[in-house]
Amino acid sequence: MSVILSPSLLAADFSALAQEVKRAEAAGAEYLHLDVMDGIFVPNISFGPCVISSIRPHTRAVFDVHLMVTEPARCLRDYVSAGADIITGHYEACSDPAETLRRIRASGVRAGLSVKPATPPEAVRSLLPLCDLLLVMSVEPGFGGQKYIPASTERIRTFRQMIDSDAPQCLLEVDGGINAGNVREVTGAGVDVIVAGSSFFGADDYTEAARLLRG
Ligand code: DX5
Ligand code: ZN
Repeated sequence: MSVILSPSLLAADFSALAQEVKRAEAAGAEYLHLDVMDGIFVPNISFGPCVISSIRPHTRAVFDVHLMVTEPARCLRDYVSAGADIITGHYEACSDPAETLRRIRASGVRAGLSVKPATPPEAVRSLLPLCDLLLVMSVEPGFGGQKYIPASTERIRTFRQMIDSDAPQCLLEVDGGINAGNVREVTGAGVDVIVAGSSFFGADDYTEAARLLRG
């Protein structure tokens, strides 16, 4: 199976979002990665359901919503109504991650779980059967344009093995600092979905950026 590309809108031109999402889809992006930040779980604020629902009519791409918010279970309905297809919450942000994953699935969308770089893989192993997607952060969440943390590659290999043995339905996604120079390393370690912000929306030609990111 070839890798799925999920460009992160955080690096797009916010004054022209409809055009940006159309260009990303035309470049072959299957997913669109939507980074929601609350200024509490992470020290930054991005956008919320109003922005997501306003771009929904402009693309058929899968909306891959990455909630960097405290207790994501509180706001699921808003993101489902806005047009999310996958909702990912952070393990570190949930008082009851298993219940959060169950609630995401019950709301009719795919359920994702994200882990920060310092969270041990064993901590989430028992949750994998409840996940449709595991999002491995390869930078500290909060900002685009950071440098890939090299130890992430080994973590991806570990998660790949866990998923293959315990939860074959679960996609493995990597997020943070992915570019044409390191994409082979992460796909070689076994990821299914690549998030790319600055290396995609920072390019002049998105089709060429997509080609480079597919290795
Ligand atoms: C960081 C976000 C990422 C970010 C990726 O908190 O979760 O999705 O936008 O951007 P790049 O690819 O520039 O690291
Ligand atoms: Zn993200």
